[in-house]
Amino acid sequence: MEIVETINEVRERLARARVQGRVGLVPTMGALHAGHASLIEAARRACDTVVVSIFVNPTQFGPNEDFDRYPRDLRADADICERLGVDLVFAPSTREMYPRVNRTWVEVEKLSEPLCGARRPGHFRGVATVCTKLFNIVQPDVAYFGQKDAQQAIIIRRIVADLNLPLEIIVCPIVREPDGLAISSRNRYLDAAQRREATRLYQALSAARRRFADGVRQTEALIATMREVLSQSPALRVEYVEIVDAETLEPVASIERPALVALAVHAGSTRLIDNTILDLNDPTASV
Ligand code: PAJ
Repeated sequence: MEIVETINEVRERLARARVQGRVGLVPTMGALHAGHASLIEAARRACDTVVVSIFVNPTQFGPNEDFDRYPRDLRADADICERLGVDLVFAPSTREMYPRVNRTWVEVEKLSEPLCGARRPGHFRGVATVCTKLFNIVQPDVAYFGQKDAQQAIIIRRIVADLNLPLEIIVCPIVREPDGLAISSRNRYLDAAQRREATRLYQALSAARRRFADGVRQTEALIATMREVLSQSPALRVEYVEIVDAETLEPVASIERPALVALAVHAGSTRLIDNTILDLNDPTASV
């Protein structure tokens, strides 16, 4: 496995690989965990060359967000990549990715506006721009994203479609702790009490899923159920609980087509998100 820090090295290293076989890219911000590993494993199964990018992208963090305290440990991340059979780690500096004031942005209308977009202005513009840059640098045949960040995955798919980018996007299922908490680099900020309460996100989604399986279609009722579960914990502050169309992200009153159930909750200063899809064709599937 090689670790490179410059765009030129990525291009040199991949020139031949791209001709010889499929190149898969897994974009990450590091602090790798089992969720990232599932993406890397999927890439390893399907691609000849697996590239993992590790870059804590400043343009997707708001001024009061956790850019400075975001966990960074390239040594540990490289060990994980090595064990998973990654071929190339691209770990650029901020200077390498943004050598001058950035004037060109990728903005995805509508899809960036609701849910996390409404609470994190500029976040998806930063994500969309850095992913487009990474696609241009690595030129992968396929890139892997997690359903954990459902809105991000939808936005990335739309960029690839709207701009005719020559790659395929694969979205992998959410990897959870045994008690249901979606694995996240930010879980390490939680103290023991917050960590216990954090399982309520999964419990809320599961409760909505059960009511949906029982035939409840009205989103207002499902949202009330989830709020009820979350409100049992004084340690959690709800940012949003919403049910939207899984493709357009527009609000829905009654579930007739696949719907995205998404929530964001604060435990102390840590922001946690989770989601599930409710689909009439598959009403009893688990979260
Ligand atoms: P990061 O939070 O490091 O996540 C990298 C990828 O891992 C994302 O596609 C995310 O959805 C996926 N992932 C995280 N936790 C997961 C889990 N529990 N199960 C399955 N997949 C999981 O998302 C980003 O970085 C950045 O926004 C990035 C796309 C790299 C652009 O900067």
